[in-house]
Amino acid sequence: MVHSARHSKAAQRERLRVQSGEMKKRIADAPFGPKSKELARKWAEYESFGGVGWGLFDIAPIIERANGAYLYDADGKEYLDLLAGFSVSQLGECNKEITEIIQKQASQLTHYFDFPHVERIRLAEKLTRVSGIKDKTKVVFGVTGSDGIELAVRAARYYTGQPYILTAYGDYHGVTYGTMGLTGKGNMQPYFYPVLPDKAVGYFHFPHEYRKPDDDFPGFGMESLYAFERLLESKESPFTDGVKGISNVAAILVEPFQSSAGYYIPPPEYLQTLRRIADRFGMLLIIDEIQTGLGRTGKMWAYQHSGIEPDIVVTSKALGGGLPLAAVIAREDILAEWGPGAHVSTQAGNALACAAANHVIDVVSSPAFLQSVNESGDYFRAGLRDLEERHPIIGHVDMKGIYTGIELVKDRKTKEPAAEAGSYVCARSVEEGLLYEKGGYYYNRMQLIPPLTISREELDRVLNIFDRVFGDAEKKYGIG
Ligand SMILES: Cc1ncc(COP(=O)(O)O)c(C=O)c1O
Repeated sequence: MVHSARHSKAAQRERLRVQSGEMKKRIADAPFGPKSKELARKWAEYESFGGVGWGLFDIAPIIERANGAYLYDADGKEYLDLLAGFSVSQLGECNKEITEIIQKQASQLTHYFDFPHVERIRLAEKLTRVSGIKDKTKVVFGVTGSDGIELAVRAARYYTGQPYILTAYGDYHGVTYGTMGLTGKGNMQPYFYPVLPDKAVGYFHFPHEYRKPDDDFPGFGMESLYAFERLLESKESPFTDGVKGISNVAAILVEPFQSSAGYYIPPPEYLQTLRRIADRFGMLLIIDEIQTGLGRTGKMWAYQHSGIEPDIVVTSKALGGGLPLAAVIAREDILAEWGPGAHVSTQAGNALACAAANHVIDVVSSPAFLQSVNESGDYFRAGLRDLEERHPIIGHVDMKGIYTGIELVKDRKTKEPAAEAGSYVCARSVEEGLLYEKGGYYYNRMQLIPPLTISREELDRVLNIFDRVFGDAEKKYGIG
């Protein structure tokens, strides 16, 4: 067989690289005012095009200030924020209480290395109380989400003495060298050769019931996970010899819902099955709640929708109220294996971030707050249902709490992904003053991450914009 020219390394590089003049054109065509365009020219001149802001939008709006669910660009244009700093500004931008807490803390103690201080100890205790794990737990602090995942993986490998981590295709656990091997993004892996941790990661399929295995554009249901379990019962995988009772696996590490892949919600049997597999074969179960946790899905943690209990929970993003902070909450016996000084990170457990996090946890763990998230979710779902009746471009909606993924299709019967129309919808939304991330296994999903405090009036405004841009897309691409 002739090696396909399309897949030669040189041809792939050429497709990934920014083509000459492309960014200038993008800036010229952007629906922004003069100040934003001038700043965009500087951004292009001084920052690498590898930044995610060049990847998610033609040109990401250049923001000067924010308030609640609104962002304002350098020319004063207002945007409704369905990104929330990618799930960081859970309680709204420039939240008044958080701002006051950070200001007060800044005059008392800003940082004390990776050492104990008053807010940090308060937070560690609080996190163990809200983890949902019944056994006694302990906490390790990090700075970023990737940092937290690396800590959890290291702890699991050290505790079990086993090398392998099993995870799902499509999961996102970070893009540091230590986490890239755990992240299923075919278009990012080329930037990481050699991808670590070499050979000690195994993948299974993430089940999502909208696309069936025999659809033209297929998906995977629970049957693929049951098949994986059968495999583990045999001796023909590097992970286990089920016959002789051998496991080489430290942990199963998963996102409870797949976020970066496109806001996909699996059936509850997904985590239930993974818990069973972990128990049967002596593996730990690590749940990455970096994006799904802290109230976004209407429960404190998304894993709680399936009624299972993990061994380790990792949280970050919204935890620090806008400041970088990560925490791993694990069963005490797992962390008890580490001797003093086994881990350190200069910026971990920053005092400002911990003070903000103490407030964030108090708010998002309160039943009244979680109820309000569910009520906003119900309100938004009803509005989306109404749009589904009128807009055939909507193939499917995933939703829990206010965690929302929308699948766009050319045809509801064939489920053919509407990727081009999806990009158009995203660009039109920016014009209309609405920001969200696009994603999807086939580049055809809208992933909506508003602040959890978004009001009904703001949700109505979102729905009205969707109504217009879906209608425009359907006309332009002949959908329906
Ligand atoms: C589920 C999940 N895990 C881990 C990460 C990595 O977090 P960070 O970008 O802070 O390293 C992300 C980031 O988007 C994420 O969504």
